[in-house]
Amino acid sequence: MNLKKYLLPVAIMALTACSQTDDTERRIDRLISQMTLAEKIGQMNQLTYGDEEWLAEQIRNGVSGSILNIPDAATVNRLQKVAVEESRLGIPLIVSRDVIHGFHTIFPIPLGQAASFDPAIVEQGARVAAIEASACGIRWTFSPMLDISRDPRWGRIAESFGEDPYLTSQLGVAMVEGYQGDDTSDPSTMAACAKHFIGYGAAEGGRDYNGTTITERLMHNVYMPPFKACVDAGALTIMTSFNENDGVPSTGNRHLLRDILRQQWGFDGMVVSDWNSTGEMIAHGFAADLKEAAAQAVNAGVDMDMMSHAFISQLEELIDEGKVDMETVDNAVRNILRLKFRLGLFENPYVDETYAAEIQYAPEHLAAAKRAAEESAILLKNDGTLPLKGVRTILVTGPMADAQHDQLGTWCFDGEPEHTVTPLAALRKLYGDKVRIIYEPGLGYSRDNDRSKLGRVTALARTADAVVVFAGEEAILSGEAHSLSNLDLQGAQSELLRAAKAAGKPVVAVIMAGRPLTIGGDLDACNAMLYSFHPGTMGGEALAELLFGDAVPSGKCPVTFLKEVGQAPYYYNRNNTGRPASGNEMLIDQIPLRAGQTSLGCSSYYLDTGFGPLFPFGYGLSYTTFEYGDVKLDSNEYTPDQTIKVTFTLSNTGKYDAVEVAQLYIRDVAGSIARPIRELKRFERIALKAGESRTCTFELPVSELAFMGLDKRVKVEPGDFKLWVCGDSVSGEAVDFKVI
Ligand code: NOJ
Repeated sequence: MNLKKYLLPVAIMALTACSQTDDTERRIDRLISQMTLAEKIGQMNQLTYGDEEWLAEQIRNGVSGSILNIPDAATVNRLQKVAVEESRLGIPLIVSRDVIHGFHTIFPIPLGQAASFDPAIVEQGARVAAIEASACGIRWTFSPMLDISRDPRWGRIAESFGEDPYLTSQLGVAMVEGYQGDDTSDPSTMAACAKHFIGYGAAEGGRDYNGTTITERLMHNVYMPPFKACVDAGALTIMTSFNENDGVPSTGNRHLLRDILRQQWGFDGMVVSDWNSTGEMIAHGFAADLKEAAAQAVNAGVDMDMMSHAFISQLEELIDEGKVDMETVDNAVRNILRLKFRLGLFENPYVDETYAAEIQYAPEHLAAAKRAAEESAILLKNDGTLPLKGVRTILVTGPMADAQHDQLGTWCFDGEPEHTVTPLAALRKLYGDKVRIIYEPGLGYSRDNDRSKLGRVTALARTADAVVVFAGEEAILSGEAHSLSNLDLQGAQSELLRAAKAAGKPVVAVIMAGRPLTIGGDLDACNAMLYSFHPGTMGGEALAELLFGDAVPSGKCPVTFLKEVGQAPYYYNRNNTGRPASGNEMLIDQIPLRAGQTSLGCSSYYLDTGFGPLFPFGYGLSYTTFEYGDVKLDSNEYTPDQTIKVTFTLSNTGKYDAVEVAQLYIRDVAGSIARPIRELKRFERIALKAGESRTCTFELPVSELAFMGLDKRVKVEPGDFKLWVCGDSVSGEAVDFKVI
């Protein structure tokens, strides 16, 4: 290779990037030198949209650097004009919003997207969201949420990518890349915000906002990797979390924000608090008053205060009293201005209002949303009823069959229900000319307890060849502050399923929910079950095609499904107990009466629910069957700088062309600390025609086996390992290898 020819352009690009960075830093310094203290503090103050005249006055006086939740492009332009043309230094605003799983075109909730195990569709979804939202002037989204979620009682599990650090890292990075594109100064991009830093998903008891007790090693090995991956991928902002961990709220955690985020990870983006999380340090009992809270937050490394009004009201006095240094404030302002420069806001502060209206719901956006919904649906049970074949009449029932609002899921402020394609509408449109569709919802909404229509459902089911029951949760039952202690189907939905089944016709349950519900008891009442976490705008079309076999399910569980809520938290990548269960333990109804004191098999399980979950992480069926074979490693010994090459054969042994999510897990058999029984390290969606076999490869650098061990250093520990390539987190034959 002609090295000179190759290296010269690379060197020129690197030099150009350096000089651009230097130039930006010079512009930032110049601006900071012109700013009054009040203007600096103003940049650090984020306000929400409200009384527009009052807001304009604040912006004119340099009292706010960022506004969240401005409703439309015209309002953004009006307020931006005040910032750029009427404030003393003309610093543009940065407008932000929770664009979590789409702006107008709504994609499946993040937990659903995670079920696709498809970084490409997640990136595309984020790209679509960025195009639609940025057209309305929103250049900063509070997404992705990277909280590892091991407890389905926590309502915000819906916004997460589930329980696994590797899957969350891969999908988090894909989302960041989708939002930010290759060039963040392109006006069609948005700055990503990796949130909530950190541990929020481990809220005690799944109760939102609760404290967490995550140890340092667990933090580094499980909770931090997705954040580190997104920082490495260039995420421009980070949001602190509401929770306190081991007594220290994240918003006041200097070690977290300065030592780890800034120093160890080299993050040069911007840190924002969560909504009022600065002020909430008073309720936590970590700050005596707002002044102390402001000092804690800014000294810990929070650059912008979201809606506590703590910086704006306290910082000037804190500086006078020497409790906060001017250098700390200057650095925070530097991070904020750098973000604005990186987004090109100084060059392009305004948006084209006509384009904003035109670009929403573009056909390619809807097509991507449909594909995402299709890839996200998980087939949990099928006795051969699906796909529906040769049916002339179907009964469509259930409160989620035509729920335009609820199908969109939580946290979508801008989703417009009138654009939602429901399963009922899609079935009628796509199959209505071939199949007679009878519709009787049975229940009005998921919590409905009015059983008066259930008899009619049974009667109508008798007249049909198959029944499809759309059940689940209304959107409002998951998301922030929407934790639940009972995860069974709400209202009379389980009875609706049984009423449908009573007719003796094949019953398909389609569950649309914000979390993995405890549907174990409902499985008996149906012949097949498709689980579709709230699937978004195009969910109906995707589900209709899946039901009739014009698409084949390929989603896999991104979280463990529980038999009973009492099993929570339950996750596949746990450590072993000293007495692991074998699965043959004695259950409650097998215990003899007046049994003498015994520890009944001496292993770790529940007397009533046994040992395993309902469905393990990674599980999901297809209309076809897959077989894994010939799993081979290119060596049985590796040094830490080598890469493990794994080959295996994947065969589609059934009758449908389909996609399988092949998964690679490892176990570090004995370490300086106990290691999880399995950890996901690679996955890939592999498309195979019916009857096709293929030799596939995974490459895994040994360095990715590193973890924080007893000495608190992150490194690969030599010793024995096991490796599986399989279709879920509990199957497969282990292959052994050593790291030397
Ligand atoms: C509070 C939520 O915790 C956070 O995720 C969200 O981005 C902010 N509110 C802004 O709406």
